[in-house]
This record gives sequence, structure tokens and C-alpha cells, in this order.
Amino acid sequence: MQQKLIIDTDPGIDDAMAIHYAFAHPGLEVLGLTTIFGNVFVPQATRNALLLSEQAYYCVDVAEGAAQPLVQSLNPPSHHVHGAEGFGDVSVKQPYGMQVEISAADYIVKKCRQHSGEVILCPVGPLTNIAAALKADPDLINHVQKVVIMGGAVWSPGNVSAYAEANIWNDPHAADKVFAADWDIDLIGLDVTQKISCDDADFAHLRKAAPDIGGFLHEISAFYIKYYYSIFQKHVCLMHDPSALVAITDELLFGFKETPLSVVCEGEAVGQTMPDERSSRRPVRVAVSADVQKVKSCFLDICATADKMKRNRMASHAGS
Ligand code: BDR
Ligand code: CA
Repeated sequence: MQQKLIIDTDPGIDDAMAIHYAFAHPGLEVLGLTTIFGNVFVPQATRNALLLSEQAYYCVDVAEGAAQPLVQSLNPPSHHVHGAEGFGDVSVKQPYGMQVEISAADYIVKKCRQHSGEVILCPVGPLTNIAAALKADPDLINHVQKVVIMGGAVWSPGNVSAYAEANIWNDPHAADKVFAADWDIDLIGLDVTQKISCDDADFAHLRKAAPDIGGFLHEISAFYIKYYYSIFQKHVCLMHDPSALVAITDELLFGFKETPLSVVCEGEAVGQTMPDERSSRRPVRVAVSADVQKVKSCFLDICATADKMKRNRMASHAGS
């Protein structure tokens, strides 16, 4: 049985890597991509999600989400990390398809109720759509299998400030509502994702194995690696969003520590994910360690099959 999944995303270079991993993984069935501002503006995120699904010939709903955070004003998109259109220097065209007509929040509620208990929600962007879905239907907590979030920096420093990780910083009020809800959350944040990286040789290898989709990932990785070189003076990029997907398919590669969490919503530390042992909130499973080499191999091995999986989908479509 495949694991049903909704990915809430702001594609974004590492989002694209995560989405192609999910599309190529035989154990996953991606029902929908719901889109959010963050790395790009939300109309760009929607366009990019449609382009990725068309590139992989993967039949998936795309539902557009919030254009801005719940309370604070919109931070500028991370063009310096992901490029002006979200895929580094790679030019983007218009997709053939269209998003579905309901909002991301309504889509999440509808699909999780339709497949009650079977859907993992995997947000890899700011948590605005997830908070909006909870507001629209507080009973959502009883229909979602679990929530696996890329975000936060609980015991490690942030990446947009000394305290905060980008996804949480972009909508701290939404994140706090998501951590307050009584449901199972795995948090794959900077505590582990800062240790998981790939370099140009990894992506060049991927291109050889899968010239179409691996080739695209190789191309977009160049901009991302350039950005990380400006930070760490090393020719690598951090695999934030793909790590959250690997934590779904290969959970045992990660070590977790449980703690209730709240989010700082204003001041210098805005966006900080704070452990609060005395809180009555349900503890979050925070990833604190990972078998870094194996996580990386999982990502590369699955993405190496992306073209083959695409051909299979095309053949079964032609035969039906
Ligand atoms: C997160 O922020 C975004 O730039 C990435 O796509 C990832 O989801 C890392 O902090
Ligand atoms: Ca992201």
C-alpha cells in the first residue's frame, strides 16, 4: 500500500528536489501539491508546482494557498537563494494545466476527510495553509495520519537570524497554531538538515542516471550551491526539504527527541521554535540526528529512477 501524501510547498529549488523524490518513490502516492508564498510569491509557487508535475508526467492536484502570512506582513521572497522565478537561473515556461478551484486549506480538509487517517501532511514552506485548514475545520486533527514539517531550529541556530529558520520566520503565528494543535508532528528542522548536503558531483551523477529530471535537478542545483558557497565557502547545498520526505519513507534513519514547542511571534527572536517541557501541548518529535550518508543515498537512488518512473506513467497512460 502506498502512503498517501499532500505536500504543502513554495517551490523553490530544494522543494523541487523533494517533490521529484516523492513523485519517483514507489511507496508514495502524492495526492496534491498545495502552494504557499515563501521562496517565491504564491502565483509563482503554483505555476512551479504545475510545471514539476507536468515535467514528471505525474497526475496530481495543485491547489493554491495563502499569498501572505496570518498576522505579520509578507517578507520578501528568497530570490537570492532560489532565483527570481524559483528554479535558480533556469527559465520557466507557462504550464499547460491549471490549479483546482478550491483553496489549499479547503483542499487539505477535503482530502484528509475523504481518506481519513491515511494522509500524511508534509509542509515544506511557511505553515499558513495548515493553520488556515485547522481554523476551517478544527476536527482535521482527527483525520490526518501525521504532519511531517520541514522547519524550525530547536537546539541549533537559525538560518534567517540567529534564532529562526525561514519557514517558521515567514509565518510564526501560523506555526504556533500548528504546534498547539493536538496531533502528531515530526519536525525535520535545521537541527538535522544542516548536516545533510549534496554537491555538484552528486547532481552530475543524477543527470547521467536520469537525463531529463536528474538533468533538471542538476541545472537548478548550480544556483543553490552558489548561494551556499557565499555562506559556507563550500561547494555544497543543504537538502532541507528532501530530508523531510526521506523522514517519511525511511523514518528509522532519523533520531528524535520529544518536546512541546511554541513559537516566538515578535521581537528579535521572532520565528524561534522554543521547547517548553512544562507546556500541556502534545510533544513534537524533533529530529536531532540522522544517518547522513544513508539519507543522501536514499534521495539520490530514488531520484536516479525518476525518468524510468516517468516513462512507466506515460506508458500506462497510453495503454489506458
Ligand atoms: C527552508 O526554507 C526554504 O528556503 C527552503 O525551501 C526550505 O523549505 C529552509 O530553511
Ligand atoms: Ca521549501
